[in-house]
Amino acid sequence: MCGIFGYIGSEKATPILCRGLKNLEYRGYDSVGIATVSSQLGIRKEVGRIDDLVSRLNIEDVEGSLGIGHTRWATHGPVTAENSHPHTDCFDKVAIIHNGIIENYLELKTKLVERGHRFSSDTDSEVIAHLIEDNLSFSGTISGSESSWNGSSFEDACVAAFKELRGSFAVLAVREGEDKIVAVRKDSPLVVGLAENGTFFASDVAPFLEWTKEVVYLENHDIVMAEGSEVRFFDGGFAEVKRPVSTVEWDIEEAKKGNFDHFMLKEITEQAETIQRACVQDMAVVERIASMIRSGFGVFFVACGSSFHACLTGSYLFSKVAKLHVNVVLASEFENYEHFLTDRTLIFAVSQSGETADVLEAVRAAKRRGSRVVSITNVMGSSLSREADELLLMNSGPEICVLSTKTYTSQVVMMGLLACALDGNYESCVQKVKDLYMDVYNLTAKSMRDRLKDLARDLAEKDHIYMIGRGLQYTTALEAALKVKEVSYIHTEAFAGGELKHGPLALIEKGTPVFVFVSRDNEDRIVSNAQEVKARGGYLIGVSDWDNPVFDRWIKVPDCGDLNPIIQAIPMQVLAYELAVKKNLDPDKPRNLAKSVTVL
Ligand code: M6R
Repeated sequence: MCGIFGYIGSEKATPILCRGLKNLEYRGYDSVGIATVSSQLGIRKEVGRIDDLVSRLNIEDVEGSLGIGHTRWATHGPVTAENSHPHTDCFDKVAIIHNGIIENYLELKTKLVERGHRFSSDTDSEVIAHLIEDNLSFSGTISGSESSWNGSSFEDACVAAFKELRGSFAVLAVREGEDKIVAVRKDSPLVVGLAENGTFFASDVAPFLEWTKEVVYLENHDIVMAEGSEVRFFDGGFAEVKRPVSTVEWDIEEAKKGNFDHFMLKEITEQAETIQRACVQDMAVVERIASMIRSGFGVFFVACGSSFHACLTGSYLFSKVAKLHVNVVLASEFENYEHFLTDRTLIFAVSQSGETADVLEAVRAAKRRGSRVVSITNVMGSSLSREADELLLMNSGPEICVLSTKTYTSQVVMMGLLACALDGNYESCVQKVKDLYMDVYNLTAKSMRDRLKDLARDLAEKDHIYMIGRGLQYTTALEAALKVKEVSYIHTEAFAGGELKHGPLALIEKGTPVFVFVSRDNEDRIVSNAQEVKARGGYLIGVSDWDNPVFDRWIKVPDCGDLNPIIQAIPMQVLAYELAVKKNLDPDKPRNLAKSVTVL
């Protein structure tokens, strides 16, 4: 959720921290802050985004060639400058940034307050700075004048503090007068980048790609000490360990906006390519997964948000194409199903980021019960990629916009590939995806965008939008509704066409916009549902390959059979984008949301 970034090296830290935080903003953007180390700690923090911090606080003037920075998505405490990170000890000698949740912070805080520590924020994170201070064998009374440190080393104090924390945490700590960064990760993402000009720390690799592609993916409980140009790794038992260095395959340009106004539009436009890249899979792995699915006694698809919708789409495809039943469960609800897990169960965990806490918790519960885990993720080195027994990568490249667009369609492609692999038709599915290239290209071209811009103009002031579909078009409607609501803030809801008469029809008034997703194989039934809406004054917008007379507006898409969920989702992504632009909203960073949801 929050993003953390650190740099120690030969260059001035603040410009690097600012660029890194800007690159990382998709993980949280309600407040931001940095701490650098020179003769003193230089701390700047602010409500708002990194650009606000730079312009209002002369940030580039802060000296030091090592520093840490944080972009926040509030969990404990409102969005204020005090609650922004970095947090410091009583005397601003130690600064920390944290991503995650400290579950026992109240207990620790009470103990620290009794010992005289003064807290200045409502956050759970601040206890970490005070614990480090406390462990430095502080001499004298805290409530008096400035302290003199005389105890254990900074590293020891950090390690002792980390040991007291319960919950999930990725932490970077610095101290005045020390040329080092001490870091820890437990159940929260943290990676280390190794470059000629220094060492980088970040919540994921995209923010430091412009400096290095050499990365160390930390294990859970790892502690890292970076001092000068040296980096040392320790496991949870504090034994020094070697961690392999991997080379990131993503291209730096992929993490930049290029000529586009927003990442969202760039990522929507990339889909003609990214759905092809989703087909580049190791056949041996696909075969192994297919056989795990066949032999699984209970298969559970587990995911959140758009990834959940891709799983729902997958369940229809598995049923239709492979004649196989799979259970689809929201990761945050999975605890209600855990008692079904055995060593014969297969968990299919799908997550773009591979760091979604609800998904990881479900995976860990499954592993405790001996179930096998297959994962689909976009991020190599993510927790999910490392905790699964088998892994398929989406190969979509970095997705920076908070909304899932290209990764959603890649997930649907992979669901289709697996369903076809189970049916012995993998290659023909790959060919069908190849054949979509021009269709997808045309759906993201300027002419289509202009048409959807017109529609967005007419819908921008609406309070409610509804969407209906049946089968694969129902799951498409669910995803389309999520896209529109999260970026335009218009209440948008999807229903299965057949469910309308069981309640939702009561919502329809004269002029209520209702999107109707149509496929050749369910046309008659969904059109009769649309008639029910029309009879109550609803304004129908068809998404189909031909213009049914019942529609008031029509978005033309080709009929691509079982791959329609891909083709029909794309114009809805474009519409969602145009709605946000029309309403002067930031499509890349919708309010209250973050790209990677690393808290439960
Ligand atoms: O990284 P994940 O795929 O696990 O993320 C799941 C959801 O948080 C994500 O799909 C979210 O719903 C997006 N905002 C959808 O656009």
